[in-house]
Amino acid sequence: MKPLRLGFIGCGMIAQAHAAAVRLLQADGLVQLVAAADPDPTGIDRIAAIAGPIDHRYEHGRDVIACDDVDAVVLITPTRFHRDAIVAVCASGKPLFTEKPLAPTFDVVTEIRDVIEDAGIACQVGFQSRFHPINRRLATLVASRELGAVMGYALRDDQYWPTGDVVAGHTSWRSDRAEAGGGALLEHSIHSCDLLTWLFGPTERVYATTRSVFGYSVEDTAALTIHHVDGVVGNLVSIFNGVEGREERRLEVFFERGTVEITTDFLVGAPEDSMLIQRPGQAPERLDPSALRRADFAAQGLDPDREVWVYQYLAHRAFASALASGTAPTPNVRDAFAAHALVDAAYRSAASNQPEQVRR
Ligand SMILES: NC(=O)c1ccc[n+]([C@@H]2O[C@H](COP(=O)([O-])OP(=O)(O)OC[C@H]3O[C@@H](n4cnc5c(N)ncnc54)[C@H](O)[C@@H]3O)[C@@H](O)[C@H]2O)c1
Repeated sequence: MKPLRLGFIGCGMIAQAHAAAVRLLQADGLVQLVAAADPDPTGIDRIAAIAGPIDHRYEHGRDVIACDDVDAVVLITPTRFHRDAIVAVCASGKPLFTEKPLAPTFDVVTEIRDVIEDAGIACQVGFQSRFHPINRRLATLVASRELGAVMGYALRDDQYWPTGDVVAGHTSWRSDRAEAGGGALLEHSIHSCDLLTWLFGPTERVYATTRSVFGYSVEDTAALTIHHVDGVVGNLVSIFNGVEGREERRLEVFFERGTVEITTDFLVGAPEDSMLIQRPGQAPERLDPSALRRADFAAQGLDPDREVWVYQYLAHRAFASALASGTAPTPNVRDAFAAHALVDAAYRSAASNQPEQVRR
């Protein structure tokens, strides 16, 4: 199999995680990073330092899309630039791996969904949390109904404020509503909105409150009560906090015959990782996250001791494998739309102070 030749558009902070994933996948012979665009050439230098030399370096993303050596485009610019790049990728017909959120506003998210579906291009969205072995184990427990039906859940999802004023070295577009479209909920916890929809099915109604304690034009605090179509109810609390380095998601799920508590981070082997399963009349089962990860990697045909530090590795591996086998990659634009629809309903609810229906 010939490696999938990738072109990056945007070489900022999270592009470094993509580059780390690509470095390993290049060693696997699955992908090759052949082109990168960023108006700031030092960004391309940083990516090359991680992933290795890049043949084609551009200022504009359109040149990556047009480059004959690029088989698939990886879109990693600030969110407000996604729409125009996606329209151009769709016109080229090339497969696309795009970062979340798709766009700052739900209208544009809807337009992007339609453009991608009309073009029929292969598209995967950067919800790498779905590839976390602990989340995958929970998904198996939910689907198998081993603990009975899901009753409800509580999810607390937080991260340090990823903006230059709070953590030096970051860009600051995330704290500006005109540029980002939303704060903790849209920019960060859209991962959780995707996970909740993936785990517990489509959502239909949400009641939400938001706050902007740090004083930016986007929220740093959001509290949601979420109703899923099949009856599951739960709470999501999303926070951008001031504790540098902190990023953590804690989810408690209540089943008819058991409970599961998981804590996860974005890094592979993070010290916070944990999974506890409790069943009636039995001793609590505390799973070893490292054993869980090794088993998960082995089940996917990976070396269990492979030195991987970001789940973007598994996400890019899935993208390259799907394209090689001619299957549609996931999570796809429909999945992203469902997560965005939940965020959109939450923002409408926070504005109206009423529960709001999730759009379809
Ligand atoms: N999946 C995740 O966990 C995750 C994590 C962080 C960020 N993200 C998303 O990734 C995207 C990028 O975030 P970031 O933190 O890397 O931002 P960033 O500000 O650190 O970097 C963005 C880079 O894009 C470049 N850029 C700006 N306009 C461009 C254009 N038109 N063409 C090409 N390059 C351009 C900038 O010069 C910069 O180097 C955002 O949509 C963000 O929400 C996803």
